[in-house]
Amino acid sequence: MTLFSGIQPTGLLHIGNYFGAIKNWVKLQEKYPSIFCIVDYHAITVPYDPKTMQDKILNLTIDLIACGIDPKKSILFVQSQVPEATELTWILNTITPIGELRRMTQFKDKSQEHPESVNMGLFDYPVLMAADILLYKAQIVPVGEDQVQHLELTREITRKFNKTFGQTFLEPKSILTQGSRIMSLTDPAKKMSKSSGPETYISLSDSPETIFKKLSTAMTDPARQRKTDPGTPDKCNLYHLHKLVSSSKELDYIAKGCQKAQIGCLECKKLLADNLARELAPIQKKRKELAENPEKIKKILADGTEQARKIAQKTLIEVKKKMGLTD
Ligand code: TYM
Repeated sequence: MTLFSGIQPTGLLHIGNYFGAIKNWVKLQEKYPSIFCIVDYHAITVPYDPKTMQDKILNLTIDLIACGIDPKKSILFVQSQVPEATELTWILNTITPIGELRRMTQFKDKSQEHPESVNMGLFDYPVLMAADILLYKAQIVPVGEDQVQHLELTREITRKFNKTFGQTFLEPKSILTQGSRIMSLTDPAKKMSKSSGPETYISLSDSPETIFKKLSTAMTDPARQRKTDPGTPDKCNLYHLHKLVSSSKELDYIAKGCQKAQIGCLECKKLLADNLARELAPIQKKRKELAENPEKIKKILADGTEQARKIAQKTLIEVKKKMGLTD
């Protein structure tokens, strides 16, 4: 069974990307043949700066390797370098109902965020995602919760293709982690994302001081913040982050101390900042080393493209034969 997942080169990575997806990729690459894709064609569906795109791709590749993606075990490549994905997108477009695309939450959200640029690419984004996955006949797709709806659509497209043209693809399934929905530091009703400003997320490159500074102004359990009630850890955004980086002993101490108002939010935040900084320190160190040799990183992407393309070409020929587009 093949694993596939993707990520956009939009600048810094945040801990939502890390705990929701990348940390799981690193673990699962030991279990499945894995393909990881830097999805530049997805990134251009919203306004962006062409001058910084190549740097962003290089930096994201460095980040992924620093997090533990191993190019010796897994294929790592850039989406636009494998044109078969856009060819398959066109093909899949012809069997995708427009009504399904209109239902996509991310399309509605991004259309609201960028009302000046509601373009066809943004609308078609989930079909390109389906093509990414099906091109490699991947069945295991580790993602954060915001991508689950797109995966459901991919499954539907898969069924429709198989029914219309004969059994070709296997239905992929999404794999989620405990951190599949990391929320904004300043508004726990919203998911953590880069578009809401640096005070709302912790980036993988933040220093221990920055992490603590961002956490000190972060929202906790609203009742505890208003001092109307003792805290309820499960209602606190930061307690959910603790669950990802703190030991069971620490969690117990925090939960009990919070409920009985024996510890203050600041103490809880300090412990969280220390534990997050400890998790990120080895990644930051590795990142510095890797950044010294950009040529090596470019070579990794070139090798990845070559491997990915071989698989993609084989699938596309099979698809075209089934559809009567070639002999
Ligand atoms: P992207 O670049 O928006 O996000 C990359 C991964 O990070 C996860 N993620 C989060 N997880 C938990 N909490 C958060 N706050 C959070 N924010 C982001 C995302 O769910 C994702 O797993 N369309 C995709 C990339 C893609 C793809 C694919 C994924 C393209 N083709 C094929 C899987 C299979 C995207 O834009 O992810």
